[in-house]
Amino acid sequence: MKLKFGNVEENVVTRDEFPLDKAREVLKDEVIAVIGYGVQGPGQALNLKDNGFNVIVGQRSGSKTWDKAIADGWVPGETLFEIEEACEKGTILQFLLSDAGQIALWPTVKKHLTPGKALYFSHGFGVTYKEKTGIIPPADVDVILVAPKGSGTSLRRMFVEGRGLNSSYAIYQDATGKAKDRVVALGIGVGSGYLFETDFYREVTSDLTGERGTLMGAIQGIFAAQYEVLRANGHTPSEAFNETVEELTQSLMPLVAENGMDWMYANCSTTAQRGALDWWKPFRDATKPVFEALYDSVKTGKEAQKSIDSNSKSDYREKLEAELKELRESEMWQAGAVVRQLRPENN
Ligand SMILES: NC(=O)c1ccc[n+]([C@@H]2O[C@H](COP(=O)([O-])OP(=O)(O)OC[C@H]3O[C@@H](n4cnc5c(N)ncnc54)[C@H](OP(=O)(O)O)[C@@H]3O)[C@@H](O)[C@H]2O)c1
Repeated sequence: MKLKFGNVEENVVTRDEFPLDKAREVLKDEVIAVIGYGVQGPGQALNLKDNGFNVIVGQRSGSKTWDKAIADGWVPGETLFEIEEACEKGTILQFLLSDAGQIALWPTVKKHLTPGKALYFSHGFGVTYKEKTGIIPPADVDVILVAPKGSGTSLRRMFVEGRGLNSSYAIYQDATGKAKDRVVALGIGVGSGYLFETDFYREVTSDLTGERGTLMGAIQGIFAAQYEVLRANGHTPSEAFNETVEELTQSLMPLVAENGMDWMYANCSTTAQRGALDWWKPFRDATKPVFEALYDSVKTGKEAQKSIDSNSKSDYREKLEAELKELRESEMWQAGAVVRQLRPENN
């Protein structure tokens, strides 16, 4: 259906419009092979299975992830296979390896993309940056995308709670004439609350911007800046952490999620309200140039290249651990660990 977001009309698909029964009917003859069992793999595979679809998992054996798949109920030789075998058996290949893993495994997957199959992604990365990744799908398969807007962990958790994360969907190539039905059915099957339409390029550029920006990069940067100013002015770690992070995540953000920012501003103290209304624009103006530089770096492919280069290195995990350690051991997040322990529900 068409729905207005502000003054802009967009295509969305709701569960009412495309119920689970219809999704099951569309995919009744398909074998959905979920390739990769990292973060998205388990969420999508388990939701599809619980929704009554025919699902198998492809994962390299001899790794902890293989054992996790067994612990989750997948049975070797029946519903759990080596990647190549799953690619051979599947009619829809859900390519859910890490983006670097997708580059490494592409020749294997490509070999089994026989005419009429569908290649499914949860990120536009591999295909959009095909000059860098080498992922160029054959012309006679559908190439589709469902990108849940959140972690695979939330996708599963919200499904179990009877809720649903929203996802975007896109069609890059419709070889069979069935790509739209296939992609929407899969989107509903993996547990999406509703689906909004995009294309591979817009999905990857908005996603790379968002995760580097307000979702993760910018938010940590702003937290750190405020925390440092409070500490430099004599505030204690617990006070600085509470005023910077804890109040936001525990109290305010759930309310903003429910009611929007204007409601939040209307329902705080008049003092807080005056200050927030005065200061949000200076913060927007100060950070906008950084967001513009970020978007430019995404658009020109620099961010993609950096990810490919660093994530393909053999010492990737050690370097990552060192960077995470810096965050974990920063005073702000050390204070955070103590504050989390003090929450009554954790005692
Ligand atoms: N993380 C999220 O919540 C999220 C959200 C939206 C979209 N996405 C997209 O979903 C896709 C999957 O992301 P993810 O975060 O779930 O990936 P991930 O956790 O990094 O994926 C790890 C999986 O890839 C396998 N793998 C990695 N390199 C491999 C190689 N060289 N050979 C064989 N297997 C290899 C791992 O097996 P081992 O454990 O054996 O190494 C594991 O099964 C990506 O396109 C991502 O952009 C992710």
